[in-house]
This record gives sequence, structure tokens and C-alpha cells, in this order.
Amino acid sequence: MRSAGWAKHGMRRLAGKAVALAALFVAAGIVMAQARRDAGERTYKTFCASCHGAAGKGDGPMLRHLVQAPTDLTLLAKHHGGVFPSLRVSDSIDGRSSRENGPHGSREMPVWGTVFRAPAAPGTVGPRDPEREARQRLVDLLDYLSRIQDRSATGRDSNQE
Ligand code: HEC
Repeated sequence: MRSAGWAKHGMRRLAGKAVALAALFVAAGIVMAQARRDAGERTYKTFCASCHGAAGKGDGPMLRHLVQAPTDLTLLAKHHGGVFPSLRVSDSIDGRSSRENGPHGSREMPVWGTVFRAPAAPGTVGPRDPEREARQRLVDLLDYLSRIQDRSATGRDSNQE
């Protein structure tokens, strides 16, 4: 009898701990997701804003030095039927599979795939996988760009292509 009571009590305590632990994991997950998001924004501000503008509207300070105007990155979804074209955007940012060549060739947009593979800053420790890091940067960037899309008058029900 007595031991059953203890067992019950123990179970309840364990369940309480499990709930607390689960809450902790959820909180940690949110914090980590937030950090990832900020990573995308940081990469954007560092590498893209000079041409595409702080808010992605294609009006960065480099604009007047360019032959082609940088794309308004907030309208990517709008121009694709309201759906953010991740694959296309990813390919054009990476640029390594582009048939046009480099910043000094027919393509004004830099080939970021090679830039993102660049060596780590001095003082970085541990083994690195440059290709993986480049991909992660791209994924973070896509996440950021997908969140700055102009959602006015868009959506799957919109009839523009
Ligand atoms: C040196 C200026 C410059 C910088 C820096 C730059 N871009 Fe661009 N980008 C351009 C220009 C110019 C275009 C439009 C013409 C072209 O595609 O070459 C463009 C086009 C694009 C497009 C549209 C391509 C398409 O398929 O329509 C995307 C997406 C893009 N840039 C993302 C980025 C991201 C993300 C970064 C930062 C990692 C970045 N750009 C940095 C100049 C730049």
C-alpha cells in the first residue's frame, strides 16, 4: 500500500520534471531558431544590403555604380504567383551553376557560392566543412529573404504569375 503511494508520488514528480524539461527544450529551440534567423539577417546586411538596400528594395548605395539595377528582393514572391521561389533564388545567389560569368562578366550579381566558402576568420577552432557552411549561410539567407516578402495583394489565390 505504502509503496504504491510512493510510486504514484514518484511518477507525478517525474511527470512534472518531464514537463519542465520539455518546456526547456521548446524555449531553447525558439532561442536557437532566433539565432539562426539573425544569422540570415546578418549575412544579408554584410553581403547584400550595399546593392539591394537595407530593406531589400534594390536601392543600396552601390546602385549608381551598377549597369543593371539590383532586383527588389521583397517582390520575389509577388512576381512568382505569391510563392517565394526558393530554388531559383538559391541558385541565383549561389551562382556557381549560372551560365553567365562573374561580377565582371555578363553577370553583375557576385557569385556568392564561392564567397561563402571562404576561409574562416582567424582564431576559428575545430574542423570545418566549407561547403556545409556555405549551404547553411544560403539556407539562413533564404529564410530571411522569405520573411521580407511584400505580402500585399499576394497569395496563392492571386491570379498574377
Ligand atoms: C554588387 C552588387 C550586388 C550585391 C552585393 C548583391 N547583389 Fe544580388 N543582384 C545584383 C544585381 C545587379 C542583380 C540583377 C541583375 C542580375 O541578376 O545580375 C541582382 C539580382 C539578385 C537576385 C535575383 C536573381 C533572379 O533570379 O532574378 C537575387 C535573389 C539576389 N540578387 C540576391 C542577393 C543576395 C542574397 C545578396 C547577398 C548575398 C546579393 N544579391 C548581393 C547585384 C548585387
